[in-house]
Amino acid sequence: MNQKQLDVPDLAGARTMTASAHAQQKWRLSPRWRNVLLTVHIVVSVGVIGADLSVITLGITGLTSGIPELIRASYLVMQLLANTVLLPLAFTALFTGILLGLGTRWRLTQYYWVLTKLVLTITVVTALVFVLQPRVNQAAVEVLRISPEELATNGIGQVGFAVTIGIVAALSVLLTIVTLAVNKPWGRIRFKHR
Ligand code: HEM
Repeated sequence: MNQKQLDVPDLAGARTMTASAHAQQKWRLSPRWRNVLLTVHIVVSVGVIGADLSVITLGITGLTSGIPELIRASYLVMQLLANTVLLPLAFTALFTGILLGLGTRWRLTQYYWVLTKLVLTITVVTALVFVLQPRVNQAAVEVLRISPEELATNGIGQVGFAVTIGIVAALSVLLTIVTLAVNKPWGRIRFKHR
């Protein structure tokens, strides 16, 4: 980004503003709305991690249990949880995060930690939709198709492993995102002047 000097004096006439700083003043959340949105963002983020942990628990149960009814229940509840809790919460975390970034001094492309969070969250949401969700749906179909005897000995096969590994990977990225949010590392992104 090219930060051209606009030579717009402030009221005291003592300072000048860059073009980007001028543009940034267009929209800011009031302190009250920033607190409301941050509260929603944190609650939703905690919820995403909770839902992820629940899906992991169900995945491990599906892989390790020898009780066909429990394996069946695990993958069916997993499908319900992934589609109606985990995914909507992940989208809400992305949406509230973008609004928080845009509406506060952090913006979206001014600080490395915010930009990294944005990229990681988009990656997680995309992986949940295009990689995890189809496999969770497939697991729910398989668990109803396979006989109780086979479920007790072999479970649902490869797809059970794929789902569990995928959701553990998502958790590790989510924990990285929270660490970035709390520590806010690496400082400002400095664009080179032409
Ligand atoms: C699942 C994804 C996300 C999780 C788990 C998450 C988690 C958190 C947490 C726990 C905080 C509170 C940190 C603190 O106050 O010390 C926070 C703050 C924040 N998050 Fe996120 N976040 C996520 C996605 C995003 C995205 C995509 C953005 C935008 C790029 C974003 C932007 C922000 C900003 C700007 C703050 C600080 C707000 C402030 O202090 O004014 N977050 N996030």
